[in-house]
Amino acid sequence: MKILLSVATLVLGLTAFGGQAETASVEVKSLRQAEVSTTLSADAVPTYPSKGKAIERTFIHQPPLIPHKDSYSITTKKNGCLTCHSTEKATKMKATAVDKSHLEADGKFNNEYYFCVQCHVAQADNKDAIVGNNHSK
Ligand code: HEC
Ligand code: HEC
Repeated sequence: MKILLSVATLVLGLTAFGGQAETASVEVKSLRQAEVSTTLSADAVPTYPSKGKAIERTFIHQPPLIPHKDSYSITTKKNGCLTCHSTEKATKMKATAVDKSHLEADGKFNNEYYFCVQCHVAQADNKDAIVGNNHSK
């Protein structure tokens, strides 16, 4: 029994070693022995208009589209958008300051405008359509 066990350990050990040393690609087959492609194409990633460029507005008083990612966090403690777009920081951050309509009469930020992405949406070019559509004409 002891010998059998050590042989088994040896074989296992060798297989493990062999597996590690293996550098060539491994062929993967499904249970039905069909070829399985192991190379997956990359997910579509959104690309945003080049940095520092505003997107032309299509109608008057349109909330301008965001030409960059919109995933900056907005919490009760901190507004990720205001770190660049507040009247105090905008020039330094090379960003446009919030519109005057977003301010109180004394120039302080009006918190009614706190949740920026309620009105402003990011514009991105995607490689693929995000959602399919079979709308018939
Ligand atoms: C790291 C700095 C930074 C942060 C954070 C940031 N932005 Fe920007 N944003 C910019 C820059 C730079 C531009 C391009 C210059 C411009 O048009 O203001 C820009 C452009 C914009 C524009 C277009 C302005 C226009 O006149 O067309 C909007 C709208 C905008 N951002 C909204 C947001 C919102 C909403 C958030 C939070 C989700 C946010 N930004 C976070 C730097 C930032
Ligand atoms: C209730 C909707 C609303 C909310 C909320 C809002 N905005 Fe706006 N924003 C607008 C509209 C509408 C305009 C365009 C104003 C105009 O042209 O009359 C604008 C304009 C802007 C501009 C362009 C200013 C310029 O001089 O060209 C920036 C930058 C901006 N908003 C950033 C922000 C940020 C950052 C927040 C959050 C802190 C925010 N906005 C919240 C509606 C909103």
